[in-house]
Amino acid sequence: MGDRWYSEAVVYCLDIDTYADSDGDGVGDIRGLIGRLDYLARLGVTCLWLHPIHPSPNKDDGYDATDFYNVDPRFGTLGDFAELLHQAQNRGIRVIIDLVVNHTSDEHPWFQSARSSPDSPYRDWYVWSDTEPDDRHQGMVFPGEQNETWSYDRTAKAWYYHRFYKFQPDLNFANPEVRAEIKKVMSFWLQLGVSGFRMDAVPFIIELTEPGNPNSPKDFEFLTEMRQHVQWRRADAVLLAEANVEPDQLPTFFGDSGSSGNRIHMLFDFMLNGRLMLALARQDPEPVIEALRDTPALPAGGQWATFLRNHDEIDLSRLTAEQRNQVYAEFGPDEDMRIYDRGIRRRLAPMLGNDRRRIELAYALQFSLRGTPVLRYGEEIGMGEDLSLPGRESIRTPMQWSFKPNAGFSTAEPEKLVRPVIDKGEFSYEKVNVTAQRRDPKSLLGWFERMIRTLREAPEIGSGATTHIDVPMPAGVLAHRADGPTGTMVFLHNLGTEDVEVDLSMLAPEADLPTDVLADRGYGEVGKLDNLKLAGYGYRWIRLCWAAKI
Ligand code: GLC
Repeated sequence: MGDRWYSEAVVYCLDIDTYADSDGDGVGDIRGLIGRLDYLARLGVTCLWLHPIHPSPNKDDGYDATDFYNVDPRFGTLGDFAELLHQAQNRGIRVIIDLVVNHTSDEHPWFQSARSSPDSPYRDWYVWSDTEPDDRHQGMVFPGEQNETWSYDRTAKAWYYHRFYKFQPDLNFANPEVRAEIKKVMSFWLQLGVSGFRMDAVPFIIELTEPGNPNSPKDFEFLTEMRQHVQWRRADAVLLAEANVEPDQLPTFFGDSGSSGNRIHMLFDFMLNGRLMLALARQDPEPVIEALRDTPALPAGGQWATFLRNHDEIDLSRLTAEQRNQVYAEFGPDEDMRIYDRGIRRRLAPMLGNDRRRIELAYALQFSLRGTPVLRYGEEIGMGEDLSLPGRESIRTPMQWSFKPNAGFSTAEPEKLVRPVIDKGEFSYEKVNVTAQRRDPKSLLGWFERMIRTLREAPEIGSGATTHIDVPMPAGVLAHRADGPTGTMVFLHNLGTEDVEVDLSMLAPEADLPTDVLADRGYGEVGKLDNLKLAGYGYRWIRLCWAAKI
């Protein structure tokens, strides 16, 4: 494995409060998570991304912090957190945490002080306007739930800026004190032992907000500054950023114009995510081929993070209206399944009709595409959503561990749970849980374990170069390859329902005892690659050649 560990990582994201409750108060906690590290190690996860861990009034599931230097007391203590880092490290698992510093909660002592007086030392830590800005009703991130980005604060007698909800006032990154403080926050967690940060809302952090200017300038230099700071404090720490912007803007987040890669290491590939959804909906790989072709080249050390589901809605805003409607028709037919005029608030298994073949196909495809795969908790057992919960909470229900009450998540009375467990229908915890799938060697969980282990034996996927194999293919089939110093992997994924045969004999001269290393069924010998069978929704990961390197 190369020194850039993140290139060959398998990232698993979870909310501590819905994962495992060790003390029976109904809220998941750090000790509960420590108790599940062996499960994660067996699954093959190498890096945990923890959603916000800080104290918070929880109006946006922790994305509204009141203290960046502590953990939410509902989750445990800083001591528990240090123990988690140690126990994870013992198992070869790194931990990165969400760094949500575009804004704070309006209950944060900094904001409380800032609003109290124009003379507060924290006044200039936030973004104010004495008069009502013309762009007050522009740039909302949560249409339908948010109707302005500037709100009047009676105590402050001024307008404050909030890119997200009203209770999330933006910090003022034009202020050097704020920059210094945020770097101190990062140092603090690095010193405790985290391996980096999932950076929330990066395009907004670097925005130098000017009242009345909905297109305020961006200060990319702050990203360079932050990267330098982080790297001096901990050489192997990474920044994984959420920057859902147009593809032509992405390179600037990775590095300055010299392609030096001196900013963010890893960006979530939102463009690919939307295209994957479209491809699955249409049963046609073309959108993925386009995404592979159109994504900008990365500087050395830059990496994509791929995902199918995360903790938010599936954001389809970068698709055309027609494409979006196709995805809605397939995967979000009811109004109730959609959110913010742009997305779907569902988990993948129900979107794919709980069709095991299709779920495997989708995840095999994601994990074979260039980049570092990110997996959301519960997807590995095929959990469903609860649409009776508001907004994005539908996909934030407790982890389903067993047949026990509350899915084995907690021993609390059901009404005390942080969120109800899914206990009805085909995704109820009695049907979908870890214990049941442990007993069944053919379970989805067992499949994920095998698939992830196969991935770890194929470093070309994370560290190599991925290309579409551009030869005639039956409808629905994507053929791509990953090449690296250790050899070549070839992948076939059939997004359609028809059984087909694929001819890849042009690759035969490169092959050295080519073998299926993962497939939806036993397909027999790969042979001369001229008659590769592929079932409807089938997939084959073929090692074409292996160059053992010491
Ligand atoms: C990011 C998070 C989202 C949160 C928002 C505000 O987009 O992923 O969950 O609501 O930032 O912090």
